[in-house]
Amino acid sequence: MILLENLTKILGGKAILNGLDLQIATGETLVLLGRSGTGKSVTLRHIVGLMTPDSGRVEVLGKEISGHSEEELKFVRSKVGYLFQDGALLNWLTVEENVALPLKEFGKTPTSEINDRVQEVLKEVELDFHGDKFPSEISGGMRKRAGLARALISRPEIVLHDEPTSGLDPISSSIINGLVNRLKSSGITQVLVTHDMHSAFEVADRIALLHEGKIRSLGNVEEIRNSADEAVQQFLDGKIKGPLTQGAIDGVCDSEENGNEAT
Ligand SMILES: Nc1ncnc2c1ncn2[C@@H]1O[C@H](COP(=O)(O)OP(=O)(O)O)[C@@H](O)[C@H]1O
Ligand SMILES: [Mg+2]
Repeated sequence: MILLENLTKILGGKAILNGLDLQIATGETLVLLGRSGTGKSVTLRHIVGLMTPDSGRVEVLGKEISGHSEEELKFVRSKVGYLFQDGALLNWLTVEENVALPLKEFGKTPTSEINDRVQEVLKEVELDFHGDKFPSEISGGMRKRAGLARALISRPEIVLHDEPTSGLDPISSSIINGLVNRLKSSGITQVLVTHDMHSAFEVADRIALLHEGKIRSLGNVEEIRNSADEAVQQFLDGKIKGPLTQGAIDGVCDSEENGNEAT
């Protein structure tokens, strides 16, 4: 279970998170939507202990981590796998070496065990024949899957995905969605940030819309699809005009409605 309580974070003089409340149940896959720059990645960074809240609480698996003590961070890093927005693979290491990194950093696992575990997670993400390649030698979808393998190597109970399908073709996206659903079946708790509504509807137990530092709307797939909240409908339809863009867009005229700017 992940608990974010009255979370506030000021960055660049602006309250990016402003009293955000969100609870994610064990085994749940929650999709977090929101316009670019609304603080989705910042929210994920709080859950994995990469950012400290200015006020409010972060609890992960029953343990408060808002204090950022060494012991709290060690706990959270061992339980939470984090898939960075850009994949963040090191170009000078092979896929296998990238995937092995988190276990090597902890320094306690014997090499033979690391190698076995690397092959196991590469198989899980269907990259078992590509471990010896460098990131530049594989496709964007494969790089995302390599990032996922690295997030899974420490057998986390929670996996955070930051835009796992962005920039991918529909088929590569479907492969990622399938992997997310497979993790869901194995009981892993997931938070997934995306702009890809097809992916959101395919994997989500619940969907949350982040706006102005708070969760503006929250519901299961059906509730979100049929939401009476104009902001939700604006996001789903990619309409330029609406609550999400109030006062934020200059020079937009009516004929430009239904563009994709809001994603
Ligand atoms: N480390 C940082 N220092 C200053 N500003 C930041 C930092 N990280 C994020 N921000 C700002 O916070 C806002 C939200 O960022 P982010 O969470 O990355 O947005 P998104 O919803 O697109 O993931 C952006 O305006 C970004 O510029
Ligand atoms: Mg982001």
